[in-house]
Amino acid sequence: MNQLIDPFDRHITYLRVSVTDHCNYRCHYCRDEDHQTHTRRSEVLSFEEIAKIVRLFAELGVTKVRLTGGEPLLRKDILYLTKMLGEIPGLTDIPLSTNAHLLPTMASQLMDYGINRLNISLDTLNPQRHKDITRGGDLDIVIKGIDKAIEVGMGPIKLNMVVMKGINDDEIEEMVEFAIGRGLDIRFIETMPIGLAGIEAVDRHYSEAEILERIQKRYGNKLIAQKAKQTDGPAKALLIEDTNTRVATISAVSNHFCGTCNRVRMTAKGDLVLCLGQEDSVSLRDAIRSSMTDDEIKALIVSAITKKPEKHVFSSVIDNISNRQMVEIGG
Ligand code: GTP
Ligand code: 5AD
Ligand code: SF4
Repeated sequence: MNQLIDPFDRHITYLRVSVTDHCNYRCHYCRDEDHQTHTRRSEVLSFEEIAKIVRLFAELGVTKVRLTGGEPLLRKDILYLTKMLGEIPGLTDIPLSTNAHLLPTMASQLMDYGINRLNISLDTLNPQRHKDITRGGDLDIVIKGIDKAIEVGMGPIKLNMVVMKGINDDEIEEMVEFAIGRGLDIRFIETMPIGLAGIEAVDRHYSEAEILERIQKRYGNKLIAQKAKQTDGPAKALLIEDTNTRVATISAVSNHFCGTCNRVRMTAKGDLVLCLGQEDSVSLRDAIRSSMTDDEIKALIVSAITKKPEKHVFSSVIDNISNRQMVEIGG
């Protein structure tokens, strides 16, 4: 029975776990140019600590745990953790969000160690733009990584494109065609103003309505609305007839989907973050490194959930931009 029910009657069944705040890319909507990661090893939860906290969440009713970063595949021996999570009773979905840079060498091992489902960041098909957006990334390697994941049989794979006006908004249709060609799903995401890096989101805003208009224009009556599953994220999907591709939008800025929010996040340092758009958190690292019993830690988690805010507050108000960088929260 799910014991994680917040004051707005939302059942929390989804935990996003950031395993590192390091990343090999520096996407400019995710971390600002000067952002450096100085997190010490001792500040970061060990795999045993992560697995123990996840087990407590599973006992409280969480069924889905997504591994995020920074870039989760950078965490040394990550496969050891995915194996540990795979053995926790009650978890039915353990996906991972990645920039795909390390997939050419890691995809087949990930499959063997319990991760069958990936969401992959891909904002452009233009190599120079990709280098600019990620501040140094390599599109060729990313596409090799995507192809490797397909080759080893991972699925469904979802591409995440953060749409930015004047930067990559001209590529929406081309990205859909890329997804169709490889049998992948694709989600178009409004840039969220989070952390210093998010300031530019305000000027770069490209709305869900504009994205959908473009999709409608191109694919019109071939679009078939899909029913959302309980464990789904905030995306609203449309299947393109005669293909294996679902197109979806994630519109955190122009449309609040907070009424059906089913998730909380934990940073690599063990801070339980109740909402992407808010500063408040509860340290599960302090709890797990203290003499608290499992039942006491579970009670702490249940009480933290009661503080989950009704909705995120980011909008176009620059003063509201949070101090936490997206790279630390994992999206
Ligand atoms: P699925 O499990 O495949 O549905 O994935 P997901 O959409 O939950 O996860 P993913 O890591 O692919 O995130 C895609 C985008 O959705 C990212 O930009 C996230 O920041 C955003 N996102 C996910 N959950 C939330 C949320 O609760 N609130 C907001 N505002 N954005 C979210
Ligand atoms: N707005 C929207 N999406 C973001 N992501 C990272 N930063 C932002 C932002 N400011 C996305 C990445 C990745 C996912 C986990 O979060 O593109 O696909
Ligand atoms: Fe790294 Fe992903 Fe952030 Fe880009 S969006 S800097 S790949 S964590």
